[in-house]
Amino acid sequence: MVVKVFCLVLGFALLAIARIYERFEDLPVVKYDYVIVGAGTAGNVLANRLTENAKVQVLVIEAGPSDEGVLAATAPFLAPKLTPNTPYDWNYTVVPQIGLNNRTYAQPRGRLLGGSSSANFLLHQFGSSDDYDRLARITGDVGWSWSKMKKYIFKHEKIVPPTDNHNTSGQYVPANHGTIGMVSVSLRGFFETIDAKVIAASKELSSEFPHLPDGATPENILGLGWAQQTVGGGVRSSSSTSYLRNANTRPNLSVLIKTQVIKLINTGSENGRPAFRGVEFATGPSQPVNFVFAKKEVILSAGSIGTPRILLLSGIGPRDDLAKVGIQIHIDNPSVGDNLSDHVLIPNVFEVRGNASLDGLQRDPAQLQSALDEWTASKTGVIANSRSSHIGFFRLPKNSTLFLTTADPASGPKAAHWEMIVSNFWNNPSTPLPPTGNFLSLTAVLISPTSRGSVKLASADPFDKPLINPKMVTTEFDKFAVREAVRAVKRFAAAKAWSDYVIGPYGSLAGTSDAEIDSHVRQGSSSIHHPLGTAAISSADARKGVVDQNLKVKGAMGLRVVDASVWPFLPSAHTQGPTYLVAERAADIVILDSQVISADYLHL
Ligand SMILES: Cc1cc2nc3c(=O)[nH]c(=O)nc-3n(C[C@H](O)[C@H](O)[C@H](O)COP(=O)(O)OP(=O)(O)OC[C@H]3O[C@@H](n4cnc5c(N)ncnc54)[C@H](O)[C@@H]3O)c2cc1C
Ligand SMILES: *[C@@H]1O[C@H](CO)[C@@H](O)[C@H](O)[C@H]1NC(C)=O
Ligand SMILES: *[C@@H]1O[C@H](CO)[C@@H](O)[C@H](O)[C@H]1NC(C)=O
Ligand SMILES: *[C@@H]1O[C@H](CO)[C@@H](O)[C@H](O)[C@H]1NC(C)=O
Ligand SMILES: *[C@@H]1O[C@H](CO)[C@@H](O)[C@H](O)[C@H]1NC(C)=O
Ligand SMILES: *[C@@H]1O[C@H](CO)[C@@H](O)[C@H](O)[C@H]1NC(C)=O
Ligand SMILES: *[C@@H]1O[C@H](CO)[C@@H](O)[C@H](O)[C@H]1NC(C)=O
Ligand SMILES: *[C@@H]1O[C@H](CO)[C@@H](O)[C@H](O)[C@H]1NC(C)=O
Repeated sequence: MVVKVFCLVLGFALLAIARIYERFEDLPVVKYDYVIVGAGTAGNVLANRLTENAKVQVLVIEAGPSDEGVLAATAPFLAPKLTPNTPYDWNYTVVPQIGLNNRTYAQPRGRLLGGSSSANFLLHQFGSSDDYDRLARITGDVGWSWSKMKKYIFKHEKIVPPTDNHNTSGQYVPANHGTIGMVSVSLRGFFETIDAKVIAASKELSSEFPHLPDGATPENILGLGWAQQTVGGGVRSSSSTSYLRNANTRPNLSVLIKTQVIKLINTGSENGRPAFRGVEFATGPSQPVNFVFAKKEVILSAGSIGTPRILLLSGIGPRDDLAKVGIQIHIDNPSVGDNLSDHVLIPNVFEVRGNASLDGLQRDPAQLQSALDEWTASKTGVIANSRSSHIGFFRLPKNSTLFLTTADPASGPKAAHWEMIVSNFWNNPSTPLPPTGNFLSLTAVLISPTSRGSVKLASADPFDKPLINPKMVTTEFDKFAVREAVRAVKRFAAAKAWSDYVIGPYGSLAGTSDAEIDSHVRQGSSSIHHPLGTAAISSADARKGVVDQNLKVKGAMGLRVVDASVWPFLPSAHTQGPTYLVAERAADIVILDSQVISADYLHL
């Protein structure tokens, strides 16, 4: 039975959010310096950092509603109830995937304050130091290198005790973490029956699955560690509950919600380039269209689907594609919406003995209710946990035959090819939980895919959903890597430590030949919802790419992109951490730029 909890609201009042407007007419009459599109993960970082200066006026426009009082956006274990296809989702699906038996799947994106940081599954890391050094090489800007980016962890992150206050010694290394940042991060506050077995299996197979002293910290991600989650005091910590709520008493910050930006306004030519210092918006199809201008800049933080969508609707993108849907071209740039890249999720479920897994909780509304009651009363218990106890990042063996013919796509030797996520229940988004049985899931994720896809417009209608095609598992590297990742999780499940627990692989996971594993991958895989690359950063003089090393849209004036879409490749991490770090540095770049009397806004 599906418990529709997303629509329930919390029975207690959270801190009231001020200066959140639902009607354009109610906004204060001021000239905004910056208009930020999207109050999501990155947008709220900018909203906060830019308004630290009381002289700066910022307007944030968000399509979705407030996250306040939305239970599934607050109770960590209930995260999967918030999306897909709810009032808090953009309800996107991908086009049929040739590499996955032509199946489609949902591609949820948070559509509420906090964006996907209010809707994600709360796992938190930053990627490998190699990822940032690669970003520095690609952009020619040493400011993106790990040694320069590291400091932003301490601005961003606030490690707090787990909600059960257990002794965390040996589970993370405090020196690696921030304690005074914005987003609360904690270890899990509820031990599960499999935790000791995971550690034992890791120790037993330590050459392949070593146990890490601290989750996945950028200089040391290869191995298995206790999952860290964006949870404080047993509740979700999002960009809304942290960056935005910390700034929302500032008179210079206004947030307009339930309002969708339709397109940018070309505000004329500066230095021979079109400027885009205005945005058009409406509350829905066939509703009145309003507009607002920014004195300094418009900053797109609408996410990896939303940002290319707005750029394309504004005539910034591939000339031929825009002509096909009848949109007037302003800047011909084939990279807009191109190179969409996403982490592939391959569900691997094992049947287990006993009834101590969390499958009973998911089947039985009474059990779920009693867990919810405990969480409501004290913010403890299983509902305070994210969906996975341990995660690990790994590489393919150096002598893999594939590397004889194919270059290694990882950012460097410290970055990963694949990930394993341990869950104490049936974790298979493409197949519903069977009515009986208990399960262990060792979900494999392809971390360094070489498949690249695209986001394109279906029509010129701004409310029409775009065509999203990540081209999942279509390259030789991807096919090889996912097959070997499935073989590796089966080796992990075969550890002696599991012998009295794991019965064996479930369903199509049982096959052992290349063909059988490929079939298992094609019939079950989907996305772990980390799309990016659609407004990729590159050096100022590179022909490809959408934004330069300072995140300014190439060929345009007064327009920047700051969100996950600027990552030109997938980092070795779930993508909220890397998005937060990019946004923290972006805020510094924008502030620095505004202090220079730049040609960009001399005319104002
Ligand atoms: C279901 C799910 C699970 C995930 N699990 C994890 C996880 O466990 N750990 C992890 O690290 N990452 C996870 N991710 C990924 C991570 O959350 C995202 O990569 C990251 O939050 C993206 O940040 P962003 O700022 O680019 O976009 P978002 O946070 O999505 O923000 C974009 C914002 O812009 C708004 N917007 C878009 N278009 C418009 C428009 N036209 N007008 C006005 N507003 C607009 C959106 O409503 C949204 O609020 C998950 C994502 C999802 C969806
Ligand atoms: C910012 O807010 C302060 C306090 O309300 C106000 O005095 C000031 O005029 C505002 N800044 C701008 C640029 O409007
Ligand atoms: C997504 O689907 C839900 C449920 O049908 C609906 O309430 C919501 O309005 C839809 N959102 C969008 C952006 O279409
Ligand atoms: C998927 O669709 C393509 C193009 O329509 C077709 O060529 C292919 O045979 C299909 N594959 C499967 C497994 O159905
Ligand atoms: C936590 O555990 C460690 C290692 O077992 C021990 O040294 C330390 O004293 C414990 N701390 C507390 C506060 O109990
Ligand atoms: C689990 O099994 C035990 C022993 O058979 C039984 O007492 C208990 O009620 C079961 N619990 C659930 C949740 O089914
Ligand atoms: C790679 O090396 C390992 C360990 O030395 C060995 O067991 C394996 O067979 C080798 N694989 C290939 C493809 O050579
Ligand atoms: C897009 O991907 C291709 C292939 O990986 C790469 O060569 C190109 O540089 C990428 N473009 C951008 C803008 O990053």
